[in-house]
Amino acid sequence: MKKVIIIGASSGLGRELALHHIKNGNIVGIAARRENLLEEIRQINPSNVFIQKMDTTKAQAKEQLLSLIEQMGGMDLFVYCSGKGYVNKEMDIDKEIQTVEVNVYGFTQLINIAYHYFEEKRKGHIVGIASVAGIRTLSICPSYCSSKRYNIMYLKALGQLAKNKKLNIKVTTILPGFVDTEFVKTKYPLTISLEKGGNLLYKSIEKGNKRAFFPQYWSIIAFFMLIIPSFLWKKII
Ligand SMILES: NC(=O)c1ccc[n+]([C@@H]2O[C@H](COP(=O)([O-])OP(=O)(O)OC[C@H]3O[C@@H](n4cnc5c(N)ncnc54)[C@H](OP(=O)(O)O)[C@@H]3O)[C@@H](O)[C@H]2O)c1
Repeated sequence: MKKVIIIGASSGLGRELALHHIKNGNIVGIAARRENLLEEIRQINPSNVFIQKMDTTKAQAKEQLLSLIEQMGGMDLFVYCSGKGYVNKEMDIDKEIQTVEVNVYGFTQLINIAYHYFEEKRKGHIVGIASVAGIRTLSICPSYCSSKRYNIMYLKALGQLAKNKKLNIKVTTILPGFVDTEFVKTKYPLTISLEKGGNLLYKSIEKGNKRAFFPQYWSIIAFFMLIIPSFLWKKII
C-alpha cells in the first residue's frame, strides 16, 4: 500500500489520478482550494483519504503539505498537478501572473518540500505535470508555455541532483497532450477524454520513467515540433 499525495486533485487529471489510487487501496492525500470537491472524493473511502485545503501560491502551503504528510504517516509518491493557463493574446497581466504563481512559484515551493522529505528518507518519487506546450514557444500563451518549460527543466535538474547524491529518488516529468478538462476551453484536434487521460496519467506514473508523453504519439509530434525551422514555426503558430 502506497502513500500518495496529489496537489491539484479537486478536478481534472489530479482528481482522476486520485480516484485510481483510491480504487487500488492506497492511502491518498489530496489538496486544492475547492475543499467541497475534495470532501466529495474523501467520501469514497473516508479512512484512506486525507484532504487539505490549500492555495499553492501562498507561503503557508509548505506547512500544509508537511501537516498532510504527518497526518498520513508518511509519503511515497508526490504529484504536483495544480495548474493555470490562459490563451492570452491581449496580454492581460493578471492572467500572466496567476499562471506564474501556480505553475512556477507554487510548483517550486511544494516540490522543494517533497524533495527534502524524500532526501531524508533517501528514497521517493516526485512527479510534475508539464505539457507539450513547454516544448516550443506558443505566442498565444507566453506565460503558460514558459512556465511549462520551467517545469520540464526543473524536474530534469532535480532528477540529476538526486542521482549525483546517490539518492533513490525518482523524478518523472509528464507531458500530456490535450485532455478534455475544465482547463481547456477549446476542443483542439487530438483532444482525448478525461477518463482516458486519467488512465494514461496513472499508468505513466506507475512506470516511473524520467519522462512520459501521453498519449504516446505526442513524443513523435514533439520531435517534429523541435526540428521545424524557426521561420516555419512562427508561420504555423
Ligand atoms: N487538460 C489538458 O489538456 C492539459 C494538457 C497539458 C497539461 N495539463 C496540465 O495538467 C494539470 C492539471 O490540469 P487539468 O487539465 O486537470 O485542469 P483542471 O481540471 O483545471 O485542474 C487544475 C487543478 O489545479 C488546481 N489549482 C489551480 N490553482 C490552484 C492554486 N492556486 N492552489 C492549489 N491548486 C490549484 C485546481 O484546484 P482548485 O481550483 O480547487 O484550487 C485543480 O484541481 C495542469 O498542470 C495543466 O497545466 C493539462
